[in-house]
Order: sequence, then C-alpha cells, then structure tokens
Amino acid sequence: MTDTQAATIPAPAPAPDRQPLLRVTGLTRHFPIHSGLMRRQTGAVRAVDGIDFTVNAGETLGVVGESGCGKSTMGRLVTRLDEPTAGKIEFEGTDITHLGVGAMRPLRRDIQMIFQDPYSSLNPRHTVGTIVGAPFRLQKAEPEGGVKKAVQELLELCGLSPEHYNRYPHEFSGGQRQRIGIARALALRPRMIVADEPVSALDVSIQAQVVNLLDDLQRELGLTYLIIAHDLSVVRHVSDRVAVMYLGKIVEIADRDSLYRAPMHPYTTALMSAVPVPDPRRRQSGGRERILLKGDVPSPINPPSGCRFRTRCWKAQEICATQEPPLVAATAGHQVACHFPENAVTGDGARASA
Ligand SMILES: Nc1ncnc2c1ncn2[C@@H]1O[C@H](COP(=O)(O)OP(=O)(O)O)[C@@H](O)[C@H]1O
Ligand code: SF4
Ligand SMILES: [Mg+2]
Repeated sequence: MTDTQAATIPAPAPAPDRQPLLRVTGLTRHFPIHSGLMRRQTGAVRAVDGIDFTVNAGETLGVVGESGCGKSTMGRLVTRLDEPTAGKIEFEGTDITHLGVGAMRPLRRDIQMIFQDPYSSLNPRHTVGTIVGAPFRLQKAEPEGGVKKAVQELLELCGLSPEHYNRYPHEFSGGQRQRIGIARALALRPRMIVADEPVSALDVSIQAQVVNLLDDLQRELGLTYLIIAHDLSVVRHVSDRVAVMYLGKIVEIADRDSLYRAPMHPYTTALMSAVPVPDPRRRQSGGRERILLKGDVPSPINPPSGCRFRTRCWKAQEICATQEPPLVAATAGHQVACHFPENAVTGDGARASA
C-alpha cells in the first residue's frame, strides 16, 4: 500500500482551474424602519449582515437556513435586483456592486435568477413563447434562426415540447412551470444561475426531477449555481459546497462531504438532525440524535449580542454573549463561526467527541 492509500484523510481534489466567478465581501442589507409622525428611521431589519463567500466557476454553492434568515435578500443582492447597504460583489474580478443600468446590461445576461414560486413568477396572460422569449426582446438580442426557434430549443433543453410555444402557464403543472422558468433563465446563455428555493413550492415527488434537470443543465452548459434551499436535503446531492445562514450571517461554509459528515456549528447539527436518515444501518447505529431547537428565531431588528445563535444553543457559555465568533477555517475547506464547534479536530488528528 502506498502512502497516499494509507492516508485516512483524502487530499482535496486538485482544482487549479477553479477561479472564483463570484466573490462577495462584507455584503450587508439593512431595510430601514421608519416610524412616528416625521417617519424618521428608528431601526433596521438586518436581513443580510456582513457575509463573505465565493462561488467558483462550474461549481454549485448551496445556501441553507430557516425562513427569514436572509437567503432571498442575499440572492437578490448578488443578482443586483436589490442594492446592498454595504459590502462588495465581484463577478470575474470586476466590482459590480454599484454598476448602473447601462454598465450592468452585459452582466444581466451572465447572471440569471430562478424564483421560488413558478405560479406567480410567470405572467398568466403571456404565452410560453412570449415568456421564454422575453429576455431576447429585453436585451434586444436576435438569436440565430430567430426567437421562435431559439425558444423551442430552450423548451426541449428543459424537457418540454416545442409545441408548448403557444400555450399559457395555467395549462401546466408546477414542475412544468418551473421548467418554463428555467428555460427563460437560460435564454441568454448565462454563466451563473441564482436559484431561490427552486423546488420548495413543488410536490415532493417532482422536486427531484427539477433538481436533476438543473444538475444535467449544469454539466451540459458549464453553468455555475448558487442554489438556495431551506433544508439541507434538497441541496445535498447537487452542491459542491454548502453555506449555512442564521439571522443574516453565514455560520458555517464547507465542502459538501465535510459538512454532512462532520458539521461543526451547533445550528448546522440541529438542521441536520431534522433531516431523515435514509440509510437504515446508520439509523440503527444511533445515527444522529434528533435535536429540537428551542425557541423562535430572534428578530433581525435586534439580534442577540455576541453569537446570534446563543439564545437557542445548548452549548452557549458566557463568551458567546459578549464576543461574536468570527467565521474561521477549522480545517481546509471548512469554515465555522463558533467558540465551541462540534466535531473539531484535536491536535493529534482525532475528532473530539462533543
Ligand atoms: N423589502 C423588505 N423590507 C423590509 N424587510 C424585508 C424586506 N425583504 C425582506 N425583509 C426582511 O428581511 C429578513 C430576511 O428575509 P429574506 O431574505 O426573505 O429571508 P429568507 O429568504 O431566508 O426567508 C426577514 O426578516 C424579512 O422580513
Ligand atoms: S458560539 Fe456559543 S452560542 Fe454560538 S453556536 Fe457556538 S457554542 Fe453556541
Ligand atoms: Mg426566501
């Protein structure tokens, strides 16, 4: 046996060609709250409160967290549908944070968004042809062979029939409507897709089909994905890396296998314990203990001091209330923001039992 085979921790796969396509630094969005007669600003909803991450070309970053933790706001900031309060967004090394409409136009082609609700995101009075062809008209782009041909090709690419061209959204199921939304997002051959809970509104039985379609399209078209979901099971199979958000912050971000095998943030552990374990052997051997989170998510208007998770954390100590834990690398490819992380590797390389 060679040394490499004997090593228990496999070396990370070499990825020299993987440059960040998207880099987000200190990204912040506070929604002002006005009250009183003078409508003065009296506070702010700290929806996204200083987050850093990168997405490499060709990879999928999954973003998970409970409802209200700032995922959609983050997605809208990254696609420039909303203006950040602070921070920086770079696409291929270019700072796009404050680009105006004109300068943003070529980038609008590169970054597209898929929305959560395939019922409300498609105009019911427009035909499928009009909906999927809209990006061409908006960008004044004339595809080779004409818009109709291009739209029909997109429909086929997304598992629909070219004959659907003249039909209306209400004639389709939820899964098919989401395929229409995907076809529209792909019209201008984007480099990156931000998908905000793309399957949450769909029947569980068809969720996998849509996720698999996204997966196939990524391979075929070399797409880069940022996929938002509210639970860890949806993004598990498609993500290369996963970020966990809590109250406007990223609390953990890691390579997929590392995160699912050895989650470090207590919040991630809790989310993970809520995911059913399909493998019966792991269930018998104890698997993961089910952790029920106590209390509600605190308000993002007035988040807890120190670690924002401390009001629900069973490991909280005094320091958690006074010092905010920074997001730091615990191992290669695994960052966590916690004073007392789970599954932390001790000095001799063994995993400490929490
Ligand atoms: N336009 C807005 N104005 C004021 N508050 C908002 C707005 N959009 C979102 N929020 C608030 O920001 C927080 C994060 O919301 P959101 O990004 O939608 O979270 P998620 O997608 O994770 O459910 C929530 O408290 C929400 O109420
Ligand atoms: S920093 Fe403290 S309160 Fe926050 S997750 Fe870690 S142990 Fe819990
Ligand atoms: Mg959302």
